[in-house]
Amino acid sequence: MTDRNDIETLIAAADLTRPAPAEEPARQYYYIKKARQLVKEQSEERGRPLTACSVCFGCQMNARDSEKLMGILKDVGYEESEDEDSDFVIYNTCTVRDNADQRLYGRLGFAGGIKKHKPWMKIAVCGCMMQEQASLDKLRASYRFVDLIFGTHNIFKFAELLCTMFESDRMVVDIWKDTNQIVEDLPVSRKYAFKSGVNIMFGCNNFCSYCIVPYVRGRERSRAPKDVLREIEGLAADGVKEVMLLGQNVNSYGKGLEDPMSFAELLSEVCRIDGIERVRFMTSHPKDLSPELINVVRDEPKVAKHIHLPLQSGSDRILAQMNRKYTRESYLALAERIRREIPDAAITTDIIVGFPGETDADVDDTIDIIRRVQYDNAFTFIYSKRTGTPAAAMTNQVPEADVKRNFDRLLKVVQETARMRTAIWAGRDEHVLVESVNEQNPELMTARMSNNTLVHFPGDASLIGQFVNVHLDECHGFYYMGTMLN
Ligand code: SAH
Ligand code: SF4
Ligand code: F3S
Repeated sequence: MTDRNDIETLIAAADLTRPAPAEEPARQYYYIKKARQLVKEQSEERGRPLTACSVCFGCQMNARDSEKLMGILKDVGYEESEDEDSDFVIYNTCTVRDNADQRLYGRLGFAGGIKKHKPWMKIAVCGCMMQEQASLDKLRASYRFVDLIFGTHNIFKFAELLCTMFESDRMVVDIWKDTNQIVEDLPVSRKYAFKSGVNIMFGCNNFCSYCIVPYVRGRERSRAPKDVLREIEGLAADGVKEVMLLGQNVNSYGKGLEDPMSFAELLSEVCRIDGIERVRFMTSHPKDLSPELINVVRDEPKVAKHIHLPLQSGSDRILAQMNRKYTRESYLALAERIRREIPDAAITTDIIVGFPGETDADVDDTIDIIRRVQYDNAFTFIYSKRTGTPAAAMTNQVPEADVKRNFDRLLKVVQETARMRTAIWAGRDEHVLVESVNEQNPELMTARMSNNTLVHFPGDASLIGQFVNVHLDECHGFYYMGTMLN
């Protein structure tokens, strides 16, 4: 990663009297410089700085993308705002389940109302949902007030797209079907000073039959280890203490690289970086989780003791239909191995209820696994039909009432076991990273344990971003109340 000063020098050197260079990232540096001029002109017209608000739906990877969007917006002269009543609003969308789509339409309706009284306001929509033709068509037809639409593959072009948008009086739409490009060295604005997500790979090749992600995020591509490590060194120099390595299936990291490297090796290398005190990763596909990786999590003190291991279903028949490529036995063996090797590690999971053809007996199988593994936490989702996926074409969709009933009984077991697992740390001292002031009570600070559980304790805001030792006094279901020790 080129550092911020180097990027600034390159942006300053761009020659706007000539056509934009073709190569990246030089082309985007050119457009950043150009957008700075355009934003400055408008800000002079309005007699005040322009504000920009970024709204993000979806997973950590989208959250990281939104930091890149805000990086560009701030760089070209916008002031960041939390309020959608801004001069520029961008929605970074998710389409993994239908409720994510519905949330976008709700927010857009609201922003469209604001724009009626603020004709200069610009509204942009990007991200996973825009990679779907039906959603794109709907926006084009019914949300004419949107100024700019782009997708997941060309997000690195944001500065260029901003310039196009300013110079056009029509909706600008730029969607790519796929890409193998990874553009490095663009500005990023982190949400937290002390922690950061880091993409190690993009896309997904697994094609689980219910999932839209491979269609909207494209084929799996890994970033070169040197780029990942350089970025994290830069983050450490900037005061970041915790990083989360991000990918849809981090365990298949490194395939297709010039110098292949496994995820376990990359994780060990990241732990060598001075200043980085804790390393997390997300997500591990059970089919590819290696014994080496379990050893690294066990042996490296910097690696958080937490493995997110999505189960989806505990029924072999459903797992096969889902194209998950593991069985309940192989999954259980893996979970047992983790529990044996790293007894302190939290295992969390994702579960889908209501996949086509799922019977009560299949759900019983899933519940059986929940009881055996004793998840520290589980995210449970009702199956959502995603157009274009193989599961959407299956004719045996489960009636809503059955899904609801099974969802409720499964959730009950998840909550019981998670409460039990969470409670076992009571009385221990934990090294925790303080993240924020408690939302309900400003006298309390909220910190995260290595295993991802939250603990609240009396303290002040100067502790944010610090590692401290906390005694876990009392478990309140899914979190702890504690007392600071040092
Ligand atoms: N790559 C990750 C998951 C990314 S999506 C993995 O394989 O584990 C996050 C979660 O959303 C998935 O684990 C799954 O539980 C859920 N999900 C994905 N598609 C879904 C759908 N169509 N309906 C309901 N839940 C879904
Ligand atoms: Fe979706 Fe499966 Fe890829 Fe995860 S691994 S993103 S669930 S296709
Ligand atoms: Fe959603 Fe896209 Fe992530 S569909 S879950 S934001 S990869």
